[in-house]
Amino acid sequence: MSGNNGQLQVGDKTVDMAIKKGSIGPSVIDIAKLYSQTGMFTYDPGFTSTASCESQITYIDGDEGVLLYRGYPIEQLAEHGDFLETCYLLLEGELPTAAQKADFDYRVTRHTMVHEQMARFFQGFRRDAHPMAVMVGSIGAMSAFYHDSTDISDPYQRMVASMRMIAKMPTLAAMAFKYTVGQPFVYPLNSLDYTSNFLRMCFAVPAEEYKVNPVLSRALDRIFILHADHEQNASTSTVRLAGSSGANPFACIAAGAACLWGPAHGGANEAALKMLEEIGTVDNIPKFIAKAKDKNDPFRLMGFGHRVYKNYDPRAKIMQKTTHEVLAELGIKDDPLLDVAIELERIALSDSYFIEKKLYPNIDFYSGITLKAMGFPTSMFTALFALARTVGWIAQWKEMIEDPSQKIGRPRQLYTGSPQREYSPIGRR
Ligand code: SDX
Repeated sequence: MSGNNGQLQVGDKTVDMAIKKGSIGPSVIDIAKLYSQTGMFTYDPGFTSTASCESQITYIDGDEGVLLYRGYPIEQLAEHGDFLETCYLLLEGELPTAAQKADFDYRVTRHTMVHEQMARFFQGFRRDAHPMAVMVGSIGAMSAFYHDSTDISDPYQRMVASMRMIAKMPTLAAMAFKYTVGQPFVYPLNSLDYTSNFLRMCFAVPAEEYKVNPVLSRALDRIFILHADHEQNASTSTVRLAGSSGANPFACIAAGAACLWGPAHGGANEAALKMLEEIGTVDNIPKFIAKAKDKNDPFRLMGFGHRVYKNYDPRAKIMQKTTHEVLAELGIKDDPLLDVAIELERIALSDSYFIEKKLYPNIDFYSGITLKAMGFPTSMFTALFALARTVGWIAQWKEMIEDPSQKIGRPRQLYTGSPQREYSPIGRR
């Protein structure tokens, strides 16, 4: 490889390949013509070395532990801005002026109610349904209610669908929570900011006044910022692939939520808290570390490791700080789960297995402790992740739709099944 061109030797063939450089980060080798020139595919099942698209939204440097949203470090956005400012940035590419922010907040706030018939839709679920099952169902169902924003070729309808999903996800998540605890749904209150509105929809009851705790609201808003986008992760890639067929935006986001639910991805925050509860006390930690290192044991330390971060996940650092802030605000002096988490991290980060494999805590390691302290049941953790990641999914979907070179995603395979053979009648098998 040299300069802007590379060559690949395939048998007696030499194939020229263009190298495309990004603004920062790794360059890519354009292999689009590989099959037509060699009759061969590349093979990369987990996409560990594959760039699926060109994007200008989020940049991750896994070795340096850097995360940028449209070039701005996550630490600065989490410190100085709010979640809707991050939403505007991810969608529009620039930080909003005061007027743009006020207009964006106003437009999102006026889309927070869901169609009244959706409340009946919820009645069809069992009370003990997992909130993510309810979320996947109700997000997909939005395409049954909002026909006037499903035409993806119309920029106005794309914008309305985007506003609706950012605005309605908190309402749907709160409804999923209320439905599982058997309490009445709480309508959004437009005088509240985005995250305070969500907290009230989750924890207010008709029997008494609910006062939002500003420290908890600010902490949760920051947690949403940390979860907003993350390059081409599994759920975002799912949204892009679903969107590449022309599916409507609600269906694409529902597909992303379904993928996020997995314990290797967004379901890890729920799994990490369950793991900490299973470990229970600090003196049980060595047993679980040994299980995590045992090749014959499928157990993994949930909340540890990452496909991209081979250094500390910058979001985990901010998450840990937020955990201490929330526990202090709630007067929780010694949370046994936090003690286990801190000791587990200390032991793991000094253990050669984790050091060699570059396994560090990721965003899911501390988030569960914080959300549990705020009063959310473990089953709601991934729903909160989906709420925050919706803007990232939408921004990436929008970028894909607006890319003039966009075409349907259709990977190929390495076939190792049976060569062609003749059908035999059942009597002769
Ligand atoms: C998220 O992609 C994203 O950006 C995702 C995300 C986002 O914001 O969208 O950041 C959110 O999903 C964070 C990750 C949450 N998942 C978990 O915490 C689940 C536990 N972690 C692992 O399942 C794993 O680390 C992954 C899935 C996160 C990453 O898996 P990879 O990149 O495919 O790594 P791997 O499975 O190939 O593991 C490499 C090695 C293996 O050992 P060897 O086979 O090489 O001997 O490290 C080991 C693994 O066994 N390993 C672990 C481990 N994670 C990896 N061993 C013990 N505990 C772990 N957590």
